[in-house]
Amino acid sequence: MTHSLLSLLALAAAGASALSIAGTISPASGSTALSIRDTSGLTPGCQNSKTSRKCWGEYDINTNYYDTIFHTGRTVEYWLTVEEIDCAPDGYRRKCMAANGTIPGPAIIADWGDDVVVHVTNNLATNGTSIHWHGIRQLNNTQYDGVPGVTQCPIPPGQSMTYKFHASQYGTAMYHGHFSLQNSMGLHGPLIINGPATADYDEDLGSVFLSDWDHHTAFEHWSTIATFNVTFNGLPTGLVNGMNTGNCTATNATALDPNCIGGGEKYQVVFEAGKKYRLRLINIATEAWFQFSIDGHRMTVIQADLVPIVPYETDSVLVNMGQRYDVIVEANAVPGDYWLRSGFVSECIPNGAPENITGIVRYNKNSTKIPTSVSTVVQIENCLDEPAARVVPWVPVDLTNMNGGIQLENVTGEYYLNKYLRWSINQPSGGFMWTNWSQPALGDVISGDLGAIPRSNNIFQVGVTAYYKNASSETEWVVLVIEELTPIPGISHPMHLHGHDFLVLAALPNTRWDGTTNGWQLTNPPRRDTASLPQNGHMVIAWALDNPGLWLLHCHIAWHSSQGFGAAVLESPALIPGSGATSDWENDFAPVCENWNDWYPDSPFPQEDSGV
Ligand code: C2O
Repeated sequence: MTHSLLSLLALAAAGASALSIAGTISPASGSTALSIRDTSGLTPGCQNSKTSRKCWGEYDINTNYYDTIFHTGRTVEYWLTVEEIDCAPDGYRRKCMAANGTIPGPAIIADWGDDVVVHVTNNLATNGTSIHWHGIRQLNNTQYDGVPGVTQCPIPPGQSMTYKFHASQYGTAMYHGHFSLQNSMGLHGPLIINGPATADYDEDLGSVFLSDWDHHTAFEHWSTIATFNVTFNGLPTGLVNGMNTGNCTATNATALDPNCIGGGEKYQVVFEAGKKYRLRLINIATEAWFQFSIDGHRMTVIQADLVPIVPYETDSVLVNMGQRYDVIVEANAVPGDYWLRSGFVSECIPNGAPENITGIVRYNKNSTKIPTSVSTVVQIENCLDEPAARVVPWVPVDLTNMNGGIQLENVTGEYYLNKYLRWSINQPSGGFMWTNWSQPALGDVISGDLGAIPRSNNIFQVGVTAYYKNASSETEWVVLVIEELTPIPGISHPMHLHGHDFLVLAALPNTRWDGTTNGWQLTNPPRRDTASLPQNGHMVIAWALDNPGLWLLHCHIAWHSSQGFGAAVLESPALIPGSGATSDWENDFAPVCENWNDWYPDSPFPQEDSGV
């Protein structure tokens, strides 16, 4: 995985161009898998139950939640304390950061239409923090997105702040620390919003976090990774829902590593024969691609990120970092004990124990047997997403025009100061992202002083104009072509956009964009908040300009975002102050900055990565 400095530099010099192609799309004909939606049992006002999961009272699975925003009038309130703990999730003791002392942290659960209020207290001694609500649209609420240096100053040690947002969509989201590498230290948890589903099931088993795991901390590795490695050469193991067993005996048998304390366990679920279970898969890895499966069982996939899809059946599902899939598994195998396999994809990155990142499905809760089941899944040999033809949104959304133009953003690498690997996006006006924790860009946007935002915030504005969807105009879309021009072979980049679900019009490995719209899927393409930019290829995404804000767009590989692989997309800046951001900024955010700026000069750990 080492690459020549020169080749990277050459690429950086090639830079990227920006262009704008306006145009109107003629309606696509002969379009795809718009299979007939099964709406059986769906009568107005029907209640959600085991046999009518499409129902949700006055609303249902056919409601277009981008346009129909409703309020239950209920507020759910949670308290999270961010702390540094000793943890040993696989039997090896190390330092972790966690919400309320567990990995994953406690589930935040709300119903579709609820308001969510979360009080976050930073009990870390030496780090700031901020919590991002991954997947939440934050409609007209960009200030609560939780990104240090972009939408807020970090919360300093000993201080608290309160996040407020509306659950305008439903499904599986998550929260995680967005301050530097804290996410990889264990600071993450499920954010589940109950709502209708595209297929019936009996029981919701909640979230299943899939991750890789290290015996050193991410911060310990950072200096090495920052200076000479493109991607770290693999972590030693992984976890399922924060659990695993491991063999951590020191190789020198006479000197047992004192941190090898044992006691790790496998994540287990118990099935009752004949029942259907919903599992909410979440990939929270630092750098791991998964092909999830359960031996002896197939699954029905019903949701990709926060977008319900036409159900499809499969024996495995590809989950890239930041992505979520909701699946229904029927307990229809011969009763016994079966491996639940994270399905670490070794083609993308190595790992020390790829086969051991597992849990167990049991049909008898008293069984303690180690499963002997075998997998029949054909392992994939690339790092791509589920095929577009499978991910068909239940409520269709088409790309209706390209009046906002097409923007090209090339991804390149460079060796900054001849030693630090940095990823670049948004060339030539920007480059790699390096936020300033003490001066979040949103503050300058709110005060109308865009010129004050340092270039290193890597901001680009979308659309030709600052249009906003209103009664008299049709939806404006931004279309973004992202090309991966680095010489790093074989890995994809899970691109996550805050504040929006986007359409994935095209995603092709090992191919540059040909400058046309040929082959783009404009009719109900996959729609989600995280999708893979294929290896040495390109991806075309589009989103409606209906949410003024400052939205981070970044690679969800933790090392890469720390290496600057991100940009802040400035959407309709003129409309941000009017969205409620101004008063919140004065009341809630300015004090956090004041406290931060008091504390930070004494911080033992000054910023040494992108900050996000
Ligand atoms: Cu999972 Cu920028 O976030």
